[in-house]
Amino acid sequence: MGNQVILIKHPLIQHKLTLMRKAETSTAKFRFLLKEISMLLAYEVTRDLQLKCELIQTPLAPMNAPVLASDKKLVIISIQRAGQGILDGMLELIPSARVGHIGLYRDPKTLIPVEYYFKVPHDINKRDVVIVDPMLATGNSAVAAVERLKSTNPQSIKFVCLLAAPEGIEHFTQVHPDVPIYTAAIDEKLDEHGYIVPGLGDAGDRLFGTK
Ligand code: URA
Repeated sequence: MGNQVILIKHPLIQHKLTLMRKAETSTAKFRFLLKEISMLLAYEVTRDLQLKCELIQTPLAPMNAPVLASDKKLVIISIQRAGQGILDGMLELIPSARVGHIGLYRDPKTLIPVEYYFKVPHDINKRDVVIVDPMLATGNSAVAAVERLKSTNPQSIKFVCLLAAPEGIEHFTQVHPDVPIYTAAIDEKLDEHGYIVPGLGDAGDRLFGTK
């Protein structure tokens, strides 16, 4: 896996993720926890944002103080529909980020992603892209999303998820070795339906209460 996979083992994230995994956790609580964790993931994924100095005046003295040089250059791309949960949390922390959406659904028989929606900022080629989707399972959707985003020539691409399966990481890193994966956990395996085990179930259904 090398340096491409960044496993974020912060105790707050681990604790909240365990609460999300529990079958009895309600939709409202699940949504809230995902938002909280996503803010913490955003903290990690933005570690390398550039700063510049700005002359300000404190109550006591003038000061050359650091401010973000590139916050307006970030674009968060949500893979619909579960990506919305991570997007909401990240926007709390980075409200000036631009947003894009990519709609992919998994064909239940082949597990192959089919694109049904794509909308990103027109100047994406000047921006750093963070693609978000809670579950890196087979990796098919993530790989397809990155492929599609690469065709828009952004400055850089990072992929952020909550849970990853070893199979998904393997697939993703083989096709896109240049794109780092940020994840809060790497689970044991995929089951025969492409679900992550032990996982947390269907992230979209749990987020939107559609089951
Ligand atoms: N998508 C989900 O929502 N859950 C999984 O376990 C795998 C893919």
